[in-house]
Amino acid sequence: MDLGTLGYDAFMLYFEKRGLDAMRKKILTGVAGRVLELGPGTGVNLKYYDPQKIDSLTYLDLKLKPELAKRARALCPDITLREGDASRLPFPGNSFDRVVFTLVFCSVADPLKGLEEVRRVLKPGGTLHFIEHVAPPGGLLQPVFNRVNPLWRHIAGGCNLNRPTLDLMTGVFREVTVVDRRFSDIFVGGTARP
Ligand SMILES: C[S@@+](CC[C@H](N)C(=O)[O-])C[C@H]1O[C@@H](n2cnc3c(N)ncnc32)[C@H](O)[C@@H]1O
Repeated sequence: MDLGTLGYDAFMLYFEKRGLDAMRKKILTGVAGRVLELGPGTGVNLKYYDPQKIDSLTYLDLKLKPELAKRARALCPDITLREGDASRLPFPGNSFDRVVFTLVFCSVADPLKGLEEVRRVLKPGGTLHFIEHVAPPGGLLQPVFNRVNPLWRHIAGGCNLNRPTLDLMTGVFREVTVVDRRFSDIFVGGTARP
């Protein structure tokens, strides 16, 4: 494990302990069948999956972490790992029962295209499970986030603090259900159907 990974995990521990862990549990319950997870990072979501319910697990990330394959195979023998961009998914349409992404679309270069790709690869009746941090809904935080975003994006690997990701999702998916909001409504989690 490299220093960047350790740093990210330590940074995220703050949020996990204050509610992100509970949010993941809630949102990832029911992930089943043929599953695609985008931007798995270190594989933090693995522990929330029920191995009895997952037929196959496909990971796609811009850069896959070396330790991910071993950890994932312990959960699901049918695992596929691909490096690539969420906005150009290398899979045929109607391929997956579930797509999962958590804290990924803040840094996808073309988020609208990425969401359209998610819709394309989901089977009819399939479900997207997501957690994203989005632009603050208003108040004092909004101008502050707008102001610091250029610097933040530079030091945080392209992550944007002011993306209206939920609004983009509402435009792409027929049904978006938010089931959890935390940290002053900046973290939102839920499901969506094409
Ligand atoms: C902030 S980390 C989130 C990791 C994990 N999903 C979590 O919930 O903590 C963002 C992850 O998304 C990946 N990522 C960013 N842009 C991407 C893109 N365009 N396509 C695929 N993966 C991407 C990064 O490489 C990284 O692994």
